[in-house]
Amino acid sequence: MVMSESGHKEGGKVEGKDILSTADYNRKKIEAVFDRADFFSENPRSGNFKHMAAALCFFEPSTRTYTSFDLAMKYQGGVTTGFHGTAGTSVEKGESLEDTIKTIDSYDIDAIIIRHPEAGAAARAADVARAPVINAGDGSNEHPTQALLDLYTLFKRKGSLDGLNIGILGDLKYGRTVHSLLLALRNYENTISLISPDALNVPDAYSIDIRSSRNEVYETNHLEDVLPELDVLYVTRIQKERFKGLEAEAEYERLKGSYNIGKKILSGAKKDLMIMHPLPNAGELATELYSTPNAAWFNQTRNSIAVRQALLAEVLGVHV
Ligand code: CP
Repeated sequence: MVMSESGHKEGGKVEGKDILSTADYNRKKIEAVFDRADFFSENPRSGNFKHMAAALCFFEPSTRTYTSFDLAMKYQGGVTTGFHGTAGTSVEKGESLEDTIKTIDSYDIDAIIIRHPEAGAAARAADVARAPVINAGDGSNEHPTQALLDLYTLFKRKGSLDGLNIGILGDLKYGRTVHSLLLALRNYENTISLISPDALNVPDAYSIDIRSSRNEVYETNHLEDVLPELDVLYVTRIQKERFKGLEAEAEYERLKGSYNIGKKILSGAKKDLMIMHPLPNAGELATELYSTPNAAWFNQTRNSIAVRQALLAEVLGVHV
């Protein structure tokens, strides 16, 4: 990345404006996001992004992240452009990621929001774009905006992000929301249980720092080992799309269904256990759980617009 003496990347962007990883978020920065999200919760539809444009460059499927970023801009008077899947784009003709991003960037865009199947793609986009880049999920690496809205939802229900007993269940190897969550949780002081089959253990790159932080970290294959103590259970699906090739597909078939949960877990849990999930639910959450007071996944989706407006305000330089 080329930097000028003023701290601007070549092309005019202020360094540090991108949102690529929750590793860049300390407590103070997270609290600032929450303060702005509170503001946008109370002012969801006003004109704070008037005359501003964001490009949604989604090289991979999405329901929540795409629609909530789109509405987050439009509800504040901004506009959006871009693509949702590569069908019909020049990616199909072999265009490189860099050329696609540089093209979008040349339209005087104010922010680029990118989802891509490859780890590191958002950072590559940030390297060539003048506009700030928001990582909306890069392969099995990170999904920082999801983790920040997860933490906001957790804070709203539990009143604190410290002193909790948090279980994180599922595909901790490929689950990018988990990676961003663990990097953010380094800032706090909790008991964290990582619950997964051995084949889906969290890679060291995302867990090494939290193990040396003020958190107590445990690993287990069995939810029942830790369930009675949990205040929060964060469930993820097995990331089927990351199992590529015959051997990997066979492994997916072996692992799928290994941790489906239903109402019966509630009898062995604290009454106010908060169950979270970034969604989509690929069957690991039984339908019978949806109507319980423990279910928080649609609180997560409800908060996503305000948190994403808070993050857009951060990169757009809008002070609220
Ligand atoms: N949580 C999440 O990233 O959902 P989508 O894939 O639908 O955007």
